[in-house]
Amino acid sequence: MTGLVRVVVMGADAADPPPGIGTLEGVVELRFAATRETLGSSIGDAEVIFAWRANRELLPYVWDEAQRLRWIHSASAGVDALLFSELVESDVVLTNARGVFDEAMAEYVIGLLLMFAKGLVGVVDRQRRREWQHRETERLAGRHLLVVGVGSIGRAIGRAGLAMGMHVRGVGRTSRPGDDVFGVVLGAEELLDALGWADAVVDVLPGSAGTRHMFGAEAFAAMQPSARFVNVGRGSTVDETALVDAVRSGGIAGAALDVFEEEPLPPESPLWDLPGVIVSPHMSGDVAGWKEAGVELFIENLDRFLAGRPLRNVVDKDLGFVPGT
Ligand code: OXD
Repeated sequence: MTGLVRVVVMGADAADPPPGIGTLEGVVELRFAATRETLGSSIGDAEVIFAWRANRELLPYVWDEAQRLRWIHSASAGVDALLFSELVESDVVLTNARGVFDEAMAEYVIGLLLMFAKGLVGVVDRQRRREWQHRETERLAGRHLLVVGVGSIGRAIGRAGLAMGMHVRGVGRTSRPGDDVFGVVLGAEELLDALGWADAVVDVLPGSAGTRHMFGAEAFAAMQPSARFVNVGRGSTVDETALVDAVRSGGIAGAALDVFEEEPLPPESPLWDLPGVIVSPHMSGDVAGWKEAGVELFIENLDRFLAGRPLRNVVDKDLGFVPGT
């Protein structure tokens, strides 16, 4: 037993460690736990968990073993997979990767909006069929972009929309004036009205009991038939049956989904081949280099922890995200 702080890297194997984590050897005692068994046998006296992969199948099952745990840092921005009641009610501090994915996700969202506006799926389809069919496209400039979820990712998307000449509004939990990206942030009770204003709606909501199925039949009915819906938040915020109905019936013009109620998206899901729907495998923020950036953020926070200084990105475990902007 050493005098070093014990850190468990959860969801990673020593044979395939998060890039850069090795620099901590000798600074802390590093343990790797990719399975429930290894986690159970390594967290008993550990003070810190670095949650490399969010996984509902690991920590809740061995929670009672964790006798000295003080802090968990999530390598993901979304912490829904860690919000089980024993952890939420405990004194264990939870921090996340807020900031690591913002600009990459904003670029991804603009890419999706451009795919719709320029009809790029159709361009590639027609190329494959050797079909020369001239068409007119749409501008993003002048269109209305509604961002639902105004944390650091939502704000980066808002700024990217402004840079494209779009009119941008944001919906948060409560309304507040004087926002430097959105002007006025609208409150959740204004969502339905705001949906009617939008040409494009981007869902960046975290997964929590409060956001579950926030996009259901009523929300899709409030949107314009010409509107497109993008989800880069969490799949649980969307009632997929209602979304499929809305796309099939022409209630909305299309959807681009990076997150799903069940991941991987099951092969039998109608979303895979529904015309007007773009499916991607939960990758909107995963730009080359994100792993290194995520480890750097953890190491910076670990320095703070070891020095007894306040941690960055402390999650409000009841809300499920880092409050404030
Ligand atoms: C995250 C994600 O939360 O990848 O970081 O969705």
